[in-house]
Amino acid sequence: MKLTFAGLDIGGTKCAATIGRSIGDKIELIDKISFPTPPEPEAAIERLGTELELLLKGHPAEKARLTAIGISCGGPLDSGRGLILSPPNLPEWDRIDVVSPFKRRFGVPVGLQNDANACALAEWKWGAGRGTRNMVFLTFGTGMGAGLILDGRLYAGTNDNAGEVGHVRLAEDGPAGYGKAGSFEGFCSGAGIARLAQRVAAERLEAGGKLPSFYRGECDSITTKDVAEAARQGDPDAVRIFREVGRMLGRGAAMLIDILNPQRIVIGSIYGRQQELLQPVMMEELRKEALGGSLAACAIVPAGLGEQVGDYAALSVAGNLVAGQ
Ligand code: BGC
Ligand code: NA
Repeated sequence: MKLTFAGLDIGGTKCAATIGRSIGDKIELIDKISFPTPPEPEAAIERLGTELELLLKGHPAEKARLTAIGISCGGPLDSGRGLILSPPNLPEWDRIDVVSPFKRRFGVPVGLQNDANACALAEWKWGAGRGTRNMVFLTFGTGMGAGLILDGRLYAGTNDNAGEVGHVRLAEDGPAGYGKAGSFEGFCSGAGIARLAQRVAAERLEAGGKLPSFYRGECDSITTKDVAEAARQGDPDAVRIFREVGRMLGRGAAMLIDILNPQRIVIGSIYGRQQELLQPVMMEELRKEALGGSLAACAIVPAGLGEQVGDYAALSVAGNLVAGQ
């Protein structure tokens, strides 16, 4: 049977509305639209509704088959009550009911899920996690979050906060993600890598030393991409930064492996793009830190859905509302 799902992704910088068609256990992405996230939640919700209506209008057959809507967003949130609580990357969103407005407007079931959990579901169904019973998805994008599939189902925890690994502290000192200095997210996220690089550049400027090649006249504008390019060209500061990030990725993954004994860890975004720089050091650290038998049982791979994992994530939340999907 063909079913149409809609996915809404609410991010700190961008929002996206997607429609997809599932046939059996496969899904096909049909159309997508994205726009910068308006700061006020009411405006963002209204705009998402309007964009989704437009998408559906362009695909009348899908509109008639719309079965469910899935929403994916960074935590903390309460998926049972459909509330976005107060994610650090959405400062104006505080206890916002995002589910009811779409239920009213579209008349179909609507589900809300943490973005990392939603990505875990998508990779488990359609990506690199297929066929496993126990897998972990790590976002490694702007932020760091985990989605846990345990014993063949999504594990959300008591308060819906399972998998918030980004805020676990790995070192006393280090950059901050959205949270604590030295946290997993502090090192292993776009914001973290940029901050490590900015710190090196600022120290050099102050001491009058040799500036790293990723510095192009301004500390604040250094990005993960700049640092990765410099590392590929052998810039020693950039290489050192990526080694440190890779080591922390290994340390974080070792904890997950020792605690959960997963069959697969799937890592998104930055890992997919910078695997050559990160993988060797990550493995070196894993061999030091994780239990040998558990490490041997676990494959660590980039997201199978690549850069599109976020698009499929929200759709998978919708699919999860329908039995058998
Ligand atoms: C949030 C997580 C989210 C992750 C990736 C973290 O800062 O706490 O809920 O999954 O960022 O967006
Ligand atoms: Na999570």
